[in-house]
Amino acid sequence: MSIVEASAESVTEAARLLRDGRLVAFPTETVYGLGGDATDEHAVAAIFAAKGRPQFNPLISHVLGPGEARAFVEWNDTADRLAQRFWPGPLTFVLPRTKGSAIALLTTAGLDTVAIRAPSHPVAQALIRAAGRPIAAPSANRSGAVSPTEAAHVHESLGDRVPLILDGGPCLVGVESTVLDLSGNRATLLRPGGATREAIEAVIGPISVSDALPAGDSARKSPGQLASHYAPSRPVRLDATFVGADEGLLAFGPHPLPGAMLTYNLSPTGDLGEAAANLFARMRALDRPGIGRIAVMPIPETGLGLAINDRLRRAAADDPTRPHG
Ligand code: TXA
Ligand code: MG
Repeated sequence: MSIVEASAESVTEAARLLRDGRLVAFPTETVYGLGGDATDEHAVAAIFAAKGRPQFNPLISHVLGPGEARAFVEWNDTADRLAQRFWPGPLTFVLPRTKGSAIALLTTAGLDTVAIRAPSHPVAQALIRAAGRPIAAPSANRSGAVSPTEAAHVHESLGDRVPLILDGGPCLVGVESTVLDLSGNRATLLRPGGATREAIEAVIGPISVSDALPAGDSARKSPGQLASHYAPSRPVRLDATFVGADEGLLAFGPHPLPGAMLTYNLSPTGDLGEAAANLFARMRALDRPGIGRIAVMPIPETGLGLAINDRLRRAAADDPTRPHG
């Protein structure tokens, strides 16, 4: 394994690895991705293996823009209007696969739809361009664990499972892309993320929200919406109004609760964008020996707060199969 600063040379080397069917971790504006050639069943199988990810959970294919997307999915007007506003950026569309789509069946877990997005991070764009093919990439962490927003997090989580990690600095958005299903009659939010519901509705009007949100138990349209996810190894307690002596505190706003063993404030000014960017790194920092539990102060359920609270609820969901360490 090696962490290499992103540069023209290292991106070229990474693209060569991808074309050889190998995996590369790379920065996007949301989180670091574990990339493989989305058209190569073997490469995609290697992604699932490296993450320990169930193969029924499909991956997002990353492209440069609508021009490339049209080769793989049945593009439509709604996608077009949203892409004009949000691409490149943290919005993923679920669209029907085209006949003869080159996206590997394993990438979509055998579904007849494809999740596709154009990331805005310049290193991600350079890598897709140099590879000359769509890149399948889930977050670059072991399945179920906290997503990586820095190159070092990828190494902590995946170690030698990934031959090359391109370091492009900390991710500016900090939570994953919004996943929006555009394959049916009505646009449906499958996963809240970096593009806010409010901003999406400003472009296309009211959207539906999947039953599976937030962390519900009904049959899930987005197979990745497992209740427990994004989980640190310590228990997480939400909406804290006091702090126990053995707890670390994830604070929000100008009045952090007193009494925690260790406190990180997601945003002292109460800025949700800043809080999203800090979320996963601070969660990791509190997930350490000596701390019995992570208490989290309430976060408003608007704008990026939807994505932040979704991740926090999943981190708090009790699941005996939760990975530790
Ligand atoms: O920001 C992001 O989206 C990051 C970066 C690397 O791009 N990627 C990411 O991928 O978060 P992943 O694999 O952790 O999450 C993909 C989500 C999952 O919830 C999955 O179930 C859903 O997208 N998904 C993928 N394909 C789908 C499909 N055809 N239909 C419904 N949901 C799909
Ligand atoms: Mg993930």
